[in-house]
Amino acid sequence: MGAAILVTGGTGTLGRAVVRELLERDRRPVILSRRERCSDDPAGVRWVTGDLVTGERVADAVADVEAIVHCATDYRHPRNDVHATRRLMDTALLGGSPHLIYVSIVGVDRIPLKMYRYKRGIEDLVLAGRLPATVQRITQFHDLVLTILRTAGRLPVLPSPSGVQFQSIDTADAARCLVDLVQAGPAEGSGGRAPDIGGPLVQTVDDLAQQYLAAAGKKRRIVDIPVPGKKVKAFRAGWNLTPDQDIGTVTFEEFLARAIRRSR
Ligand SMILES: NC(=O)c1ccc[n+]([C@@H]2O[C@H](COP(=O)([O-])OP(=O)(O)OC[C@H]3O[C@@H](n4cnc5c(N)ncnc54)[C@H](OP(=O)(O)O)[C@@H]3O)[C@@H](O)[C@H]2O)c1
Repeated sequence: MGAAILVTGGTGTLGRAVVRELLERDRRPVILSRRERCSDDPAGVRWVTGDLVTGERVADAVADVEAIVHCATDYRHPRNDVHATRRLMDTALLGGSPHLIYVSIVGVDRIPLKMYRYKRGIEDLVLAGRLPATVQRITQFHDLVLTILRTAGRLPVLPSPSGVQFQSIDTADAARCLVDLVQAGPAEGSGGRAPDIGGPLVQTVDDLAQQYLAAAGKKRRIVDIPVPGKKVKAFRAGWNLTPDQDIGTVTFEEFLARAIRRSR
């Protein structure tokens, strides 16, 4: 078995897939979570109950790790992610020099969302730091698209912002890439950004909504809405896509079949 790998956010949507992938490749994952371990959590993992924002037990989590896949995020308070990442980096430096892999989002530099502005700042922080670092930008996860469509599907008609497309990716595909980065080790020199990655298909919201309605057995009229504003304009321009790096193998439709079966 190789050295230990810390997965921050190892209880989250992406982090769980990273932990599974590490276990499959016979690596030793460490999960840092704010909650206590429970019986559903994977075996073969070192569990540290701590908090990146307060600093509680972060030193224990980073002890003797070869790499850190930094998936932790607080969507509701994105400013916290800056403090959390700074704390993680400072603490990791005290104990060694693990390879820090920071998970970011395709288009953070072009799409004017507040959360993206913070993530872009964290990319700079990570790349300017003293740990060997890699930033991996990823397109939207299938899970996020499903959550959006589930919410929209509760309305009498399903609104679809005209001209917006997604290239959503399965977290298992994203996790495979992240663990490949762990295995490869930090790039020579100062490290940097890995090529962006995305799912296998670029699809309109309309297409995704039709697939969702069919899989969920729901009937709704899909209504194209011309949404104004800079944010949606940036999505319409395709800054959230990376069609040349379509590394995903699982389509949204395939993901849906599994996700909806599980939720029944
Ligand atoms: N969603 C997408 O479509 C998408 C696309 C591309 C990239 N990303 C990026 O991928 C990463 C993972 O996203 P996700 O959707 O998997 O997130 P998620 O499901 O919301 O999970 C967030 C994780 O962060 C942990 N966390 C939050 N605050 C923490 C703190 N103070 N200390 C320790 N752990 C903390 C949570 O752990 P506990 O609650 O157990 O403490 C949880 O495991 C993020 O950086 C996100 O920006 C997301």
